Order: sequence, then C-alpha cells, then structure tokens
Amino acid sequence: MKILALESTCDETSVAFLNGRKIEKNLVYSQIKIHRKYKGVVPEAASRAHSEKMAALLKKITANSKKPQAITFCRGPGLNGSLIVSAVAAKTLSEYYAIPLIGVNHLEGHFLSCEIENDEIKNKFKFPLIVLIASGGHSELWLAENYGIYKLLGSTRDDAAGEAFDKTAKLLGFPYPGGPILEREALKASKKDFSFPIPFVREGFDFSFSGLKTAVAYKLDGKKLSIGFKRSVCYAFQEAAVDALLKKTAQAAEKYKVKQIAVGGGVSANGRLREAFTSYFKGKNIETLFPQKKYCSDNAAMAGLCAFRRLEAGEFKNCVSVNADLKIESWRKKC
Ligand code: KG4
Ligand code: ZN
Repeated sequence: MKILALESTCDETSVAFLNGRKIEKNLVYSQIKIHRKYKGVVPEAASRAHSEKMAALLKKITANSKKPQAITFCRGPGLNGSLIVSAVAAKTLSEYYAIPLIGVNHLEGHFLSCEIENDEIKNKFKFPLIVLIASGGHSELWLAENYGIYKLLGSTRDDAAGEAFDKTAKLLGFPYPGGPILEREALKASKKDFSFPIPFVREGFDFSFSGLKTAVAYKLDGKKLSIGFKRSVCYAFQEAAVDALLKKTAQAAEKYKVKQIAVGGGVSANGRLREAFTSYFKGKNIETLFPQKKYCSDNAAMAGLCAFRRLEAGEFKNCVSVNADLKIESWRKKC
C-alpha cells in the first residue's frame, strides 16, 4: 500500500510518502523563522505559510513517485486555518486520483511515531499500554487498548507541557520555540541551589502547569537576569516539569498494570525527560518507548502511520472518502 500523507496542524508544513512499512520520504518545512519575531505562533501567518508551501512540497514529493493508493491528512486537533490547508489539498488529490481519503488524529500520530525505527514501521507495542502525549498544545494520558482504541485518563487543566516550556523560556528572554533552548540552557547550569514546587493535581490523572509558570515569574521578579541565574531557572523548571509528567504517568502505569509506556509529542524530544522516564520505569520492569528525535515534532509520516494501521485493520475498504470532515474526533472517551 502506497500512502501519501499531509500535515499542517500548527507551524510545520509536511508531506510524506509511505510504501508499505517504509517511510520513503518525509519532507518538513518549519515556520519557526516566521513566528519567532512575534515570540509565538500567529495563526493567520501560519495558514498563509501553509498555503504557500504545501503545493511546492507536494510537487517535490510526487515527482518520480508512484501513484498513491490512499491519501491521508491530520484533521485535528490543531489551528483551524492551518488544518484547512491540508484538508483541501488532500481532498482535491483524492478526487483527482480517485483513491480513499483518510482523515486521522494528530495526537494518535504522535503516539504511533514510537513504532518507527530506521524509517520503518515496526510492531513494538504490547497492548494495553499507557500513552503520554506532551506537545505544545496538549498534555494527555491515555490507556491504549489497541490501535485506535484509546481511553482518555487525564489532560491538562491549563497550559500544555510544551506551552509551559515555551512560556518560561519567553519569561527568560529566550526565542520561540523555547523548549529546546530551555533544555540546552538547563544543561549548562552550574548552580542548582533552588527548586520549584512540582505541579501536581491530587485526584485523578490531570496535569496543571500554570502554577509552575507563575512560580518562575515570582522567582524572576525584580532580579537581574544574569545568564548563570537564567540557566539555574531552566534547570529547576525542567526538573519540576519532568517530575510532574513522570508522577502521573507512573500512577497510571501502576493502576493499569501495564508493561509499556509510550511518550509522544514535541516534548518527548527532551533528553532529561527521556532519561528520567527510562530509569524510573526500568526499575519497575516497564519498557519506555519514544519516537526517534526527528519524528518527535509535527510531521506527515505520523499521519501516514495512522492510515497504515487503519488500512491494515481492513477498515475503509472500497471507500473513496472517509472521516474527511474537520470535526475533532471524540473517540478518546474520558473514563
Ligand atoms: O508536537 P509539537 O511539534 O507540536 C504540537 O503539536 O504542539 O510540539 C511542539 C512543542 C513546543 O512547545 C516545543 O517547545 C516543545 O514541543 N519541544 C520541547 C523540546 N523540543 C520541542 N520541549 C522541551 N524540550 C525539548 N527538547
Ligand atoms: Zn503535534
């Protein structure tokens, strides 16, 4: 099965071509330069940039490629104006080629990315398992019972994890997106003489990161921000944020007695998070899976993966158009 995949949920325009289990091409155009001057993503600028770049990327990926047998795109969650760009392009192409159109969930794509190894889709999951999605827009914990069968255990009550990294970096005067820069600066911290309270919602599996951001703001208030002090703040923030994500994930793993944890989304690229999760769960005899770094942030290959699993399950047989509307799916039922 040859699948052409499109992604434009936020500030990356991406197209990918999958041939069976092989990700033959995954082209990503990042809009960081456009949004950096505004210190965050400007939705209108994002959708304009997607519409300018999508056609060029499609032209590039379809040159010398065989005709796809299915086309897929992330239909949400994401920025509405951005989502429409790949929705329209994918629908047009599916009608032109007369092939099935499969709208998939962006967050499921982040989860399934954990099964890519050397650009190939492997079968690594041992269901049921706990999934942590930590991205710029979402922090969620799921119980995954099989491909496409997910129960939402908890989500953030305010800021998402990546958003908290970005906002803290902004308070410190670092450019957008702050997550990778904050991680780099935390590594350079020489003084680790203070900590922030670990943000923790007592009941259930929800997260909350806005209190941690406020604690950082109070810590900075009226102080001269030397680079050494900023690095100490980055270190203390990262420790608290990673601990908060780890604690809830550990509670969920214990409750559901799983043997695997999968972590996806942009924040899963964070080295400290990877180290903390891997060593904690190793001690509990639980395997932790992460995507390869290049598949952590938004990319079209992950949409291709979702479509691959649906087609493999025999869904969408003989369909020309399925799930192609822009309605955000409600399949992640809160339990
Ligand atoms: O999944 P993603 O690419 O886009 C969304 O779906 O939101 O995630 C982007 C988020 C941003 O907030 C970015 O700062 C964060 O992931 N991020 C990181 C790191 N790399 C990206 N956060 C912490 N450490 C990193 N190394
Ligand atoms: Zn994402």
